[in-house]
Amino acid sequence: MLTQKPTINYGLEGIYVDESAISKVDGQNGRLWYRGYSIEELADKSNFEEVSYLLIYGKLPTKTEFDEFVMKLKDRTGLPDEVKRVIRKMAPIAHPMDIMRTATSMLVMYDKDPNNRDLESTVDKIITLLAKLPSIAAAIGRFREKKRYIEPDSSLNLSENFLYMLTGRRPNKFEGKLIDLMFILHAEHSTNASTFSVLVTASTLADVYAATTTGIGTLKGPLHGGADEAALNMIKAIGDPDNTEKYIEEALEGKQKIMGFGHRVYKAYDPRAKLVRSYLEESLIKEPTDEVRRLLQIALRAEKLMIEKLGKSKGIWPNIDFLAGPLYRVLGIDSKLFTPIFVASRMSGWGSHIVEYWNNNKLVRPLEYYTGPLDVPYKPIELRQ
Ligand SMILES: CC(C)(COP(=O)(O)OP(=O)(O)OC[C@H]1O[C@@H](n2cnc3c(N)ncnc32)[C@H](O)[C@@H]1OP(=O)(O)O)[C@@H](O)C(=O)NCCC(=O)NCCS
Repeated sequence: MLTQKPTINYGLEGIYVDESAISKVDGQNGRLWYRGYSIEELADKSNFEEVSYLLIYGKLPTKTEFDEFVMKLKDRTGLPDEVKRVIRKMAPIAHPMDIMRTATSMLVMYDKDPNNRDLESTVDKIITLLAKLPSIAAAIGRFREKKRYIEPDSSLNLSENFLYMLTGRRPNKFEGKLIDLMFILHAEHSTNASTFSVLVTASTLADVYAATTTGIGTLKGPLHGGADEAALNMIKAIGDPDNTEKYIEEALEGKQKIMGFGHRVYKAYDPRAKLVRSYLEESLIKEPTDEVRRLLQIALRAEKLMIEKLGKSKGIWPNIDFLAGPLYRVLGIDSKLFTPIFVASRMSGWGSHIVEYWNNNKLVRPLEYYTGPLDVPYKPIELRQ
């Protein structure tokens, strides 16, 4: 038995739990690579399908491999009727992330061999989830507004199809670029809370659907995936661009955390946020609605102030969640759907990590230091007060 309290790394801060060749986050310099390719280059030249292939298989696809991968995805974007029915039933009462979790969990019913962990079968399940999660997110958005389900359009890529299934309108080139960018930027981010929880479940040799469902539960929290919705709520609460500085100064004086700023790993400007920022500026030029113009202006003013106040002095910089919300609003997407979109994109990262982890599986079982009493005498219920 330990007589001295061991060193405890609360929140696993600073603890390496595995090796991985999937992505590298350089928190000090604000850099991110997927399989060695810089996020800036992928955002500029690639697309979500190709990035997903790269993450899962560890290499860029040839033309034939890419076409085959895309074909499989397109074949699977439709949703089973039972899943649609459950989404419709939950839509008026549940948070979209709760619906996302339930609908994703249901997909195991349609897999004839859910426990098969062969590489080919695992990747096949991941492709199914990659294809269906955007459709689930879109269906949640439709049913929340009491609108009918829209069947997928196989002429569109995965992210554009999501926007089409959500709005009923095929996106223009700029909108298509924006939504694909968001899918690429959210695809992977090393072993953060949700990816770690996916791996904890995968390490027990539970199936891919169970692991993914765990990840969705973890991503829901406002300290992780839910920060984008929380950040937009704050931007909306600021209301008028001229209130920005006063609102933030008062919040900081009251020791409140400003959602969408700070990061456990990035102590520099989040490179994904930088990419989003450039598109926010471009969106402002494109004559957005009054509501969106205000949100964009508030976001850019808050970003400037926070950098001056906390950026260089405390290493608290904007993260992608702060700027993602206003960009989604440019696309007319409701804030309640931000985190479900994050799920749909992160599926490629979670899937890649499952594949990598099962190459060398080890059950995750950390320790805790017990501080309670021992050998307490049991008292029958009648004698307790
Ligand atoms: C992401 C986050 C949890 C990482 O934080 P962490 O490494 O655990 O660091 P802590 O929460 O302990 O914060 C360290 C210090 O910075 C401050 N800080 C961190 N994030 C801050 C924020 N967004 N606004 C104001 N102050 C912040 C804390 O108050 C604390 O100050 P103190 O030392 O005076 O007590 C944290 O920055 C946060 O809560 N951000 C807001 C939520 C968010 O955007 N999450 C998405 C991450 S991608």
